[in-house]
Amino acid sequence: MERLQAVKGMNDLLPPESAKWQFVETRARALLEAYGYREVRTPLVEPTTLFARAIGVATDIVEKEMYTFTDRDGSSLTLRPEGTAGAVRAYLEHQVAGREGHTRWYYSGPMYRHERAQKGRYRQFFQIGAEALNQPEPTVDAEMIAMLAQLFTALGIDDVDVLVNCVGGAEDRPKYMAALRAYLEAPGPDGAPRLSRLSETSQRRLDKNPLRILDSKDPTDIALTAEAPSILDHLGDASKAHFDAVLATLRELGVKFTVDARLVRGLDYYTGTVFEVRGRGPGLGAQNALCGGGRYDALVETLGGAGKTPAVGFAFGVERVVASIPGEPASFAQAPELCLVSHGDAARRFNLALAQELRGRGYRVDVDHRSASMKSQMKRADKLGARFVGVLGEDELQKGILMLRDMGAGEQRPVTRAEVEPALAAARISPTVKQEA
Ligand code: HAM
Repeated sequence: MERLQAVKGMNDLLPPESAKWQFVETRARALLEAYGYREVRTPLVEPTTLFARAIGVATDIVEKEMYTFTDRDGSSLTLRPEGTAGAVRAYLEHQVAGREGHTRWYYSGPMYRHERAQKGRYRQFFQIGAEALNQPEPTVDAEMIAMLAQLFTALGIDDVDVLVNCVGGAEDRPKYMAALRAYLEAPGPDGAPRLSRLSETSQRRLDKNPLRILDSKDPTDIALTAEAPSILDHLGDASKAHFDAVLATLRELGVKFTVDARLVRGLDYYTGTVFEVRGRGPGLGAQNALCGGGRYDALVETLGGAGKTPAVGFAFGVERVVASIPGEPASFAQAPELCLVSHGDAARRFNLALAQELRGRGYRVDVDHRSASMKSQMKRADKLGARFVGVLGEDELQKGILMLRDMGAGEQRPVTRAEVEPALAAARISPTVKQEA
């Protein structure tokens, strides 16, 4: 029989790895909510035209990476390659702008891109992202980048570079495009033409999307564009003032960052500040972009919004972030607070009822269902990393007590059924290091 397996580039997530994901998700949610972002959930599937219009027809994503299919009614649908387009569509469809002065949304979920699958680059990957809509102020861009820096610190990822740039809006771009084109069309210092030596992809991009040439990974392209004019020298007054204010606020907030005039993003909707957080850790390989985002002041209008709705957002890749966090996945798992072991049928039934009651009150309790030896049950409890083990034999059952063993302290004492919960509660107030992880 043909062996069934997951689609290439799409991964199963199993325990204990999932514990590390939950750690990231929990910390990210808490921080996003502390900054006033609220969760939005949009469909995984959207009309193909949404992505073509939002992301841009000359991007890698739209040109060759979308999972597009024809629905039964003949309409063209696409699995979302990113979250911004769907969020903006929902923002417009539900006329959120009419109800709120500004909107802060976050989302979390799978995205789909038919990329060349390799370590850190998948065809189904998860993003956690946020969008601040109808917020034109440069301090919003800076606050978002500062939040990300704070998030990476909270996740224990110290070795990151925060890169920022400004790609300019519709009023700045033509001037810069012209300068870049003139540079590429002119011969290099060696007298040889630059243009014809560019990679085939970059030559193709020259007409459709010249900014992306700066993002080429081709070594010849990199060398040929090393001295290319900088977008930062071609910004109009408004963009320049905005970007300067972003940088000043970042400094005030104590965020470490680098201005990288070559930072351009793979999506066409950006109009001003753009940023990326890149990891330096060994777990990443070539795919070191942990997070990317920027300002997209024209996207809401492009998708049919009435009037200007400036916005800024980001998304980080959960797989890459998880891979950057030091520590064994198992150490992120929540161990049981209590393992109940027993000798004899009656004791086991008592344990089951006690466990049910404590679980109902929110404690993590494990019951050994086996009629195995006490030694083997204790061994299992130890392996699970339980803080306490409750030992119940026939003797204890008759006396109406159980032996509560504090695995950290290595001490045990007899307790009544009613005394178990206070002991667990007290341990929560002074948790062991293991439980804190
Ligand atoms: P993006 O840079 O395309 O931006 O993706 C954001 C992050 O998703 C990347 O930095 C990376 O960590 C992760 N990522 C992207 N592709 C893959 C892949 N094939 N495998 C694994 N991880 C991946 C956006 O998607 C924008 N929507 C961000 C944004 C929100 N801009 C404004 N608002």
